[in-house]
Amino acid sequence: MDSGAALVALRWLFEAGADEAIGDQPVARYGLTAPAASPPPPTIAPPSAPPRLVPAGGDTALDDPETARNSARALAQGCQSLTDLRQALLAFEGCSLKRTAKNLVFGDGNPASGLMLIGEAPGADEDREGRPFVGVSGKLLDRMLQAIGRDRESAYITNMLTWRPPGNRRPTPAEVMILLPFIERHIELVAPRLLVLVGGTAAAALLDRSEGITKLRGRWLSYRDRVPAYCIYHPAYLLRQPALKRQAWQDLLAIQKRLRQACE
Ligand code: URA
Repeated sequence: MDSGAALVALRWLFEAGADEAIGDQPVARYGLTAPAASPPPPTIAPPSAPPRLVPAGGDTALDDPETARNSARALAQGCQSLTDLRQALLAFEGCSLKRTAKNLVFGDGNPASGLMLIGEAPGADEDREGRPFVGVSGKLLDRMLQAIGRDRESAYITNMLTWRPPGNRRPTPAEVMILLPFIERHIELVAPRLLVLVGGTAAAALLDRSEGITKLRGRWLSYRDRVPAYCIYHPAYLLRQPALKRQAWQDLLAIQKRLRQACE
């Protein structure tokens, strides 16, 4: 293949989301034969071993999502601090996104500020730096925060997913489900006075609602009947739909008003 054709093929792969090399050698999967049928399972159960909370390497990250979710729940529940939670995520092998991501993107800002914002998932810039919302949409989010008198010293920011989905694709429902216990524990540990859910993925998953962001934004809702929660358009969406900035501004004013009341 000449270099021009190789470049075209590379661009095609990149645009399809294959932007990470995950092995040293390419594998021609079409040429592989199906594995031989596995032998029937043993009829006598092996001596019981303690449940493995952190699957160890191999292909176990791709195992049954329910098992991964249970493992995530057990790990997250055992965390008594944000440091513990970070360590637990670093040790967790139940989410295959970890294999393609460069860094864990845990959180940024001031967890004691009372205001917690939760986005969707890291993009390429966040993956590179290991901090949430540092790319183009992060710059807009910073300006939105500035409009209500806050910055990263007076707000805490994280995401539903702590690893970047390859090619910035949307997270799958299974990825959201597997990592949900971690973000739920994250919220418990930060114990914010107000939650701002940035975009449809965080809004639907944390409020357990099926409506889209257009229906969920614009009013105060509640997270677990405990924390007032407001859903806003994701800044990446606002960059594509600038006409929505008017509604976004109204949302910011509503958040600012509630913040003032909460601090009185
Ligand atoms: N989009 C998100 O939802 N989170 C980030 O951290 C960056 C972009």
